[in-house]
Amino acid sequence: MSRRQDKRKQLRRKAATAPGARVDLARDPGRVRAGRISPELAVPPGIRRPPYALDPASLQGATPPGDFIERMRAAGRAAREVLDETGAAVAPGVTTDELDRIAHAAYLARGGYPSTLRYRGYPKSVCTSVNEVICHGIPDDRPLVEGDIVDIDVTIYLDGVHGDCNATYAVGAIDDDSARLIEVTHESMWHGIAQVRGGEPLHNVGRAIQRHAEPHGFGVVRTFVGHGIGTEFHTAPSVPHYYDPTANQPMVAGTTFTIEPMINLGGWEVGTIWPDGWTAPTRDGSRSAQFEHTVLVLPDGVDVLTAWPHETARWLRSPELQEGRPQEGRPRGVAAPAAVD
Ligand code: MF3
Ligand code: CO
Ligand code: CO
Repeated sequence: MSRRQDKRKQLRRKAATAPGARVDLARDPGRVRAGRISPELAVPPGIRRPPYALDPASLQGATPPGDFIERMRAAGRAAREVLDETGAAVAPGVTTDELDRIAHAAYLARGGYPSTLRYRGYPKSVCTSVNEVICHGIPDDRPLVEGDIVDIDVTIYLDGVHGDCNATYAVGAIDDDSARLIEVTHESMWHGIAQVRGGEPLHNVGRAIQRHAEPHGFGVVRTFVGHGIGTEFHTAPSVPHYYDPTANQPMVAGTTFTIEPMINLGGWEVGTIWPDGWTAPTRDGSRSAQFEHTVLVLPDGVDVLTAWPHETARWLRSPELQEGRPQEGRPRGVAAPAAVD
């Protein structure tokens, strides 16, 4: 057993004795298991639903007033607020179902609908993907255990448009490999974002992500990609997080899409989807991290609708990200900051 495995085992042992932890160390092979999924949470009738959340008694349909970009900006900001509020509750002993309830209340408090709820039959208001789960994990009654990593993916439908973002959180103290995975995945997302500019080929995004992640020995997931987003949750274009020469269409100023790399400690391959029809683990059981932002393409760069302006400023100005970034004619740095403090 390596030092690292030894350390991980110690962390698990410690966590299992904590109140609320229910991991049977003798039986748990280190894989996440399906827990129990609670009944659907209610959405009050005054909240505007997307068309797929059919509920005849509720507001839906009519084209909301206001400029598309302004509505995307508001949805992006609200999504990020919900993510921050939910992420702040991550701790050993907290169930992913509790995270879902916190997020659900946070969407409603902003007048938004949880986009994932009833989306193609998905039963919850966020995705929570623990350890080797790449994405689309369903919140359940499994308590988080110290040493886990958990991605929370938040999407809000507000004033007729969707805003989508996610982040991976450490549960208490985590092992060094997991910490490095989270850090490199976050950096990789920003490397991709730094490539966004009207007229440039879309595949620049994935190329930058892959170039940053793979030298660390990590696998870049290919099966799940970023996506156009707006009045629809998932629409064209597909945004690969690896270099795909066929994704050579120019990015179009004024359009919005997500960049959401999923990166594995081991191989990039996805394993068998769980019987719940959603949960997607890595094939080799290695851990997986993810970060996501919704971006707006500008003629000369990018506006990151789900980032706080100070984050965008910090990342896009960092010298490391300037490498390989289209420079010519680009006003250095950041688009006009969103109207947030
Ligand atoms: N928010 C996820 C994404 O980034 C999609 C979740 S769809 C669900 O695209 F149905 F799985 F919730
Ligand atoms: Co997305
Ligand atoms: Co998402």
